[in-house]
Amino acid sequence: MGEVPTIRINGKDYELGPDIGEDERLVNFLFDKNLKGTHTTCFEGGCGACIVVASVPDPVTGSMETYSVNSCLVPVLSCAGWEVTTIEGLGNSLDGFHVVQDRLAEYSGTQCGYCSPGMVMNMYGLTQNNPAWTASDVEKSLDANICRCTGYRPILEAFKSITTKDIEDSHLSKCAKAGKGSGCPCAQKSNSDKTKPKGCCKQTKSPRGMLPASAKAYQPTSLTELYSIIAALPPEDGYSLIVGNTAQAVVGGDYTSKATIYIRNIPELSQVTQTTENVGFGACISISRMMKEMKQMSSSSGYAYLDHLADTWQHVAGTSVRNLGSWAGNLAVRSTHLDFPSDLFTHLVTAGATITVGTTDGSTTTHSVEELIGMDLVTNRKVILHITFPKMADNVIFRVFKVCARATNSHAVGVHEPPARRI
Ligand SMILES: Cc1cc2nc3c(=O)[nH]c(=O)nc-3n(C[C@H](O)[C@H](O)[C@H](O)COP(=O)(O)OP(=O)(O)OC[C@H]3O[C@@H](n4cnc5c(N)ncnc54)[C@H](O)[C@@H]3O)c2cc1C
Ligand code: FES
Ligand code: FES
Repeated sequence: MGEVPTIRINGKDYELGPDIGEDERLVNFLFDKNLKGTHTTCFEGGCGACIVVASVPDPVTGSMETYSVNSCLVPVLSCAGWEVTTIEGLGNSLDGFHVVQDRLAEYSGTQCGYCSPGMVMNMYGLTQNNPAWTASDVEKSLDANICRCTGYRPILEAFKSITTKDIEDSHLSKCAKAGKGSGCPCAQKSNSDKTKPKGCCKQTKSPRGMLPASAKAYQPTSLTELYSIIAALPPEDGYSLIVGNTAQAVVGGDYTSKATIYIRNIPELSQVTQTTENVGFGACISISRMMKEMKQMSSSSGYAYLDHLADTWQHVAGTSVRNLGSWAGNLAVRSTHLDFPSDLFTHLVTAGATITVGTTDGSTTTHSVEELIGMDLVTNRKVILHITFPKMADNVIFRVFKVCARATNSHAVGVHEPPARRI
């Protein structure tokens, strides 16, 4: 028998047993474990009340990437091998509060308190994801957390007052592996001390394991395995390839008859490639990671335009949705739901990007972004593999726009047909 898939929450391991369905969300799992400090309102990734911080294994490097996620969207079966911190794990009235929690109260950034766990976890996620965060990053990061009481000024002022040193000095600064505070022996070791204490940092990774056979859910770890799973499904059966599972909040999800295939652990789909001719991003790369990579690449000749693209994507959904949601999931939804006002679609058409699509026999084809429309990926057993950006002369001024009701976390107004053109 293989390893049982396990999720680690606040340092404690929980097995993902056969009683868990494909549609069970992380937040419901937390409630079942009596972790009720995480709140919910919309169940659609729109309010931020349910935000927790997750460390998710990168299938290429094996390292853990830490960021905020909306626990109302994440299927708990997709969390095997994840390490999750909730508001209770960050600090509490018995063990003492974390500096992020303390500061929010000190600045009167909490009234009814309903939004506060999500606000705090979002800010904590920022400090873990970007140790050199700025005041502007704080503002950008809170782009999808809604508060009905305080107004946002005291919340922003509270969080902007937090420094790197505050986080380091917090008596509850976490050991990322074990979720322990300063009592954890590794917290007292200097960086130069290579002899690690027992426990804590020595803790094994939470096992990814095999999903229960009873579930109509699969978690392939290679492209070949993904193709075999799809090829073995009855030809008339539909299925969902799940990366962030955020799209169901936009277009609805159907878990009744389909197979659910979590593809985040396939290394081939998480790779960034750069040649002398172009740059490419695997299908499972999140919008947030892509924005970071594009910013970095924009300093190379031919890719200056990626800087503007990354800036504009700040207006696509909210930070924690972008942390999980992939560019390929966005385009796959656009290819079947013609009324979905995808910003990425319009912007990627404008950039002249091309998409490589694979089929279960291992063959690949390359298409313009427009050609994805109506391709019927599921019926034709096609998988989006990666996107390629061409070089553009550095004197070209590249601009894409978004017209929307609010500056953040708002869908674009109108359907983007025909797509924008390069002038
Ligand atoms: C609150 C909220 C606000 C949003 N705001 C915006 C916005 O302002 N602008 C905008 O453009 N978008 C917006 N979105 C949409 C968001 O960008 C998408 O939901 C996200 O990018 C989808 O990625 P995912 O990894 O979560 O896809 P998933 O939900 O995991 O998958 C979605 C679909 O794509 C298919 N799929 C996934 N990967 C592949 C693949 N490699 N090959 C073939 N098919 C695949 C799956 O079968 C599934 O049917 C918003 C979403 C939410 C929840
Ligand atoms: S409950 Fe609103 S974002 Fe999750
Ligand atoms: S403090 Fe009441 S919703 Fe924010």
